[in-house]
Amino acid sequence: MKPKVLVTRRLLPEALAYLQEHARVEGGKSRRGLTRENLKAKIRDKDGLLCLLVDQIDRDIMDSAPRLKIIANCAVGFDNIDLGEARKRGILVTNTPGVLTETTADLTWALILATARKIPQSDRFTRNKRFRGWELDLFLGKELTGKRLGIIGMGRIGMAVALRARTFRMEVVYFDPCRLTPQEEKTLKAAFVPLDNLLASSDIITIHASLHPGTYHLISAENLRLMKKDAILVNVARGPIVDEKALARALARRQLWGAGLDVYEKEPAIQPELLRLDNVVLLPHIGSATYETRLRMAMMAARNLIQGLKGGRPDHLVV
Ligand code: GLV
Repeated sequence: MKPKVLVTRRLLPEALAYLQEHARVEGGKSRRGLTRENLKAKIRDKDGLLCLLVDQIDRDIMDSAPRLKIIANCAVGFDNIDLGEARKRGILVTNTPGVLTETTADLTWALILATARKIPQSDRFTRNKRFRGWELDLFLGKELTGKRLGIIGMGRIGMAVALRARTFRMEVVYFDPCRLTPQEEKTLKAAFVPLDNLLASSDIITIHASLHPGTYHLISAENLRLMKKDAILVNVARGPIVDEKALARALARRQLWGAGLDVYEKEPAIQPELLRLDNVVLLPHIGSATYETRLRMAMMAARNLIQGLKGGRPDHLVV
């Protein structure tokens, strides 16, 4: 008898077809996902769950899932899942590391450039037929060449971002509780510095840390005050690492030159003040959104799920 699997939201058809070969699958077609009540009702008889990072899988949900053996998250981050509760119940949790590194590093640079050169603002201006001809001071941005890039969180994605910084001949500093080896630092031409030094000295600060209690509001009002007045802050990691209200205030007061955000504290909600500001570029959490990468993520999550349901050790086990 095939195991029963619930997929919370729309999955790419290739991954859904793979799951259907190995399991009796419910869901996986709707963009909007399930209400919590619906999720609780549908998970009751399921052996496996494939969920996305927007699904909060907490104790309450696990209490409604007496048969659940595995939760396969289709994301590298897993802050949406209560790992302690899963561990207590012997439920396996998997993620999708490695396959989105380059795509997310590319998007980071797209966002750095878009923010530094005011690309979305210029596009809106042009579309609104306001372009009246070349002007010496039209949309003046920030140069990157020779500037200092501060990377917070030097995991796979942070390192891929550092490699790309060479093209811009930038000086790279980083902060991470786990320091790289001297060889890695040499290869990446990245120097470790304490966080307050990074904040106070970098021209561009980009966040690639994971979200956990130690990184919640790491970029606080106080830390924002340490940054240079002409610095740019970019966040493609997780929204709650930045105190979004404090960031909006800092941007409004021009205490910071600009920001590029792909993630928000309470997605999909965004601080209303940020929406009104012209020195921030806002993206809808598309860090890993290329067809190739999302397919790799969906297939990896599906394979992890089936491996776990067949009694094996999934390749990308978190707990
Ligand atoms: C995206 O944000 C991910 O964690 O995969």
